[in-house]
Amino acid sequence: MTDIAAAPNCSDKGRSFRTGGTVDGQVDPTNAAQERAWDGTEGGLWAAHADLLEQMPARYDAALLDAAGIGPGARVLDIGCGTGSLTRKAARRAAPGLVVGVDLSAAMVEVAHTRAAGLGNASFLRADAQVHPFPTAGVDVVVSRTGASFFGDAPAAFANLARATAPGGRLALLTWQAPSRNEWFVEVTAALAGQPMGGPPPGVPSPFALADPDAVRALLGGAGYADVQLTDVREPAQFGGDPVAACDVMADLLGWLLDGRDAAEARGALLDTMRAHEGPDGVTFGSAAWLVTAIRPG
Ligand SMILES: C[S@@+](CC[C@H](N)C(=O)[O-])C[C@H]1O[C@@H](n2cnc3c(N)ncnc32)[C@H](O)[C@@H]1O
Repeated sequence: MTDIAAAPNCSDKGRSFRTGGTVDGQVDPTNAAQERAWDGTEGGLWAAHADLLEQMPARYDAALLDAAGIGPGARVLDIGCGTGSLTRKAARRAAPGLVVGVDLSAAMVEVAHTRAAGLGNASFLRADAQVHPFPTAGVDVVVSRTGASFFGDAPAAFANLARATAPGGRLALLTWQAPSRNEWFVEVTAALAGQPMGGPPPGVPSPFALADPDAVRALLGGAGYADVQLTDVREPAQFGGDPVAACDVMADLLGWLLDGRDAAEARGALLDTMRAHEGPDGVTFGSAAWLVTAIRPG
């Protein structure tokens, strides 16, 4: 496995994986705050609630994997892989090719490692994808499901990923459109905060940092990609079959939005919202994403 994501000391019996301790290689100073969050409380919550959070954007997976063009034998990187649900699906398509999931969070990488135990061609690396010294031209495909919008220096990060991609290789990203187009964000945050919330400011690392198509074209073109295309894709965001469980998970994750508000009142409002969105497919909200594809020129 070390051949496509190798960095010094990142091999453990052929698996590029570590729990705890230091990140393989360095974390860029521009990603220090993200590392604190994802390798701290936030990542711990995502690991604890992996079942629901893996499912949330899963309706997009088939389109994302089709766009990535992953076939048997492909060498694949999954950037910001989290607990590895896309990595596992990519590994099934790529076999016998190797797939490496890369993430800042030790807790999430540990869950990813456990969940991929039956797959001999998937492994995980705890590293900062922005600066990790991936072998040059070592992979055929780079994918990411909502994991590539948190870079402190996005031009440097995508240049690093372009360098890692073999000539003719592909990039395929799923990334959220603007907050206002994502009912899950609008309604969940408003219920918890007690008032409508704007999204994060543009240009800062967040789930919505790649929401502007012109900015994405300029970013990826500048990083060394060609034929950058964005496709408007819309699927229900899935929050599981139980409104109470959905409420508990989202209240845990976004508790900081309460900002002094009575916690029981906020939780009650969120539960009402979850119940209002319960249907035959469980609790679902509208969502809108960009399917971004690009080619690494030969
Ligand atoms: C929204 S989660 C998405 C997780 C996963 N792709 C999924 O769809 O379930 C974003 C992930 O990106 C990871 N991440 C953020 N910045 C990163 C970086 N510089 N290098 C590697 N991973 C990063 C976080 O640790 C987190 O797991």
